[in-house]
Amino acid sequence: MTEKIAHLLRHGQPDTNVAIQGWVRTKRELKEFTFLEINDGSALANLQVVLEPSLPDYKDLLKKLNTGASVEISGTLAASPAKGQRIELKATTLQLYGEADPETYPLQKKRHSMEFLREIGHLRARTNTFGAVFRVRNACAAAIHQFFQDRDFLWVHTPIISASDCEGAGEMFTVTGFNLNKIPRNEAQEIDYSQDFFGRQAYLTVSGQLEAEVMATAFSNVYTFGPTFRAENSNTSRHLADFWMGVRVMAFCDLVGDMDLAEAFLKHIFKTVLERCPEDMEFFNQRIDNSVLATADNIINNQFERVTYTEAIALLEKAKKKFEYPVKWGLDLQSEHERYLAEELFKKPTIVTDYPVEIKAFYMRLSDDEKTVRAMDILAPKIGEIIGGSQREERLDVLEQRIINQGLNPKDYWWYLDLRRFGTVPHAGFGLGFERLVQFMTGMGNIRDVIPFPRAPLTVEF
Ligand code: 4AD
Ligand code: MG
Repeated sequence: MTEKIAHLLRHGQPDTNVAIQGWVRTKRELKEFTFLEINDGSALANLQVVLEPSLPDYKDLLKKLNTGASVEISGTLAASPAKGQRIELKATTLQLYGEADPETYPLQKKRHSMEFLREIGHLRARTNTFGAVFRVRNACAAAIHQFFQDRDFLWVHTPIISASDCEGAGEMFTVTGFNLNKIPRNEAQEIDYSQDFFGRQAYLTVSGQLEAEVMATAFSNVYTFGPTFRAENSNTSRHLADFWMGVRVMAFCDLVGDMDLAEAFLKHIFKTVLERCPEDMEFFNQRIDNSVLATADNIINNQFERVTYTEAIALLEKAKKKFEYPVKWGLDLQSEHERYLAEELFKKPTIVTDYPVEIKAFYMRLSDDEKTVRAMDILAPKIGEIIGGSQREERLDVLEQRIINQGLNPKDYWWYLDLRRFGTVPHAGFGLGFERLVQFMTGMGNIRDVIPFPRAPLTVEF
């Protein structure tokens, strides 16, 4: 049986026989023997393997063992005399699975730019940086499940294809079975979706929230975790067209309960990742952003700042900084404003609450002032909005009016409105932008570098 390199580096004992599988990172030929560095993705560090000339086919193999080649090696572990590693593997057999031609294999041992690595998206996971990113991403995902499962939340699976626009922002991709060369039209020359696969227009979901609310009115505490899609034409370092969202909805809960849980949730994820991926996090701190570990410590050990939108606007108006976009009560906060608050002013995650009704989604609970809704955004230093949440409108008449005011048709939301007709309860929830979390955690500058296969305008190659 083969073993994972991460396990051997941590627990491997000298004089035991083991086998590993992986890819050659580097080869160093000396007179008496040859060193290989092997990586199998389980850890940032490689396992050093020593090949001696007594190995069958030694000369011939050496020619073929170039960076990128895949191998299985068995041998005996030995204490390593070299600095920085506890253990190495003395090979007794080596099976070469696939060669990688050094003339054409793009990942030679040197630093490559992120832009270049995006062009070889099918190979970049084999680099140190992307190995660390995807291990941390995995640990974040596992921490999300653990957090909710430990608190008896039900994981519910919401659909990817949906007929309703959850955010009411019209940024949806249509899903159709039409032959695009022969789209049926009605007399008014509009597309006749009644003849389409679903008998009406359908979309890729922008958020599983409305469906999650259905489940919350039966199970109280539920969460979803899966991909969501937005047809925003935003070519930024923080937007994707296909991103993952962790949504939680809790019945019998108000905005304060929502914020408290969101804060505990982020703290839990940071803590878990530091425990599970210390080498990867150290790597990010050294090579990507030297504030990553201090940020994690700050998140875990300090309370988040909480201000209302109205207070935030006053603070922004007082700021000595020149902003590109105007600051005025009623206008949405731009990312420069969000970053100023979280990064420069408070220097920690900042929860902004009670936004103007006009700039938020229809399902957020209207406050007594009728000017604001019980919304909250959690703003992270360097990233801006990382979580968006709210207490939901549980009053039928108010919700119907909000839908109409936003130019939407209450008929399209009949089942959502039914939740208020039958056994309505105060409830609240939030959605975490999963890639923004991974960005925040790792210090990676571009959101396209924290998801294996980024989708963005004009980007769908891999
Ligand atoms: O603020 P949003 O739009 O909120 C919702 O979708 C609610 N239904 C959530 C809820 O209350 N249950 O999106 C939630 C989060 C944002 O805070 C942001 O972090 C992330 O999703 N997000 C994006 N991430 C990457 N690319 C995009 N285009 C994103 N749009 C939103
Ligand atoms: Mg939002």
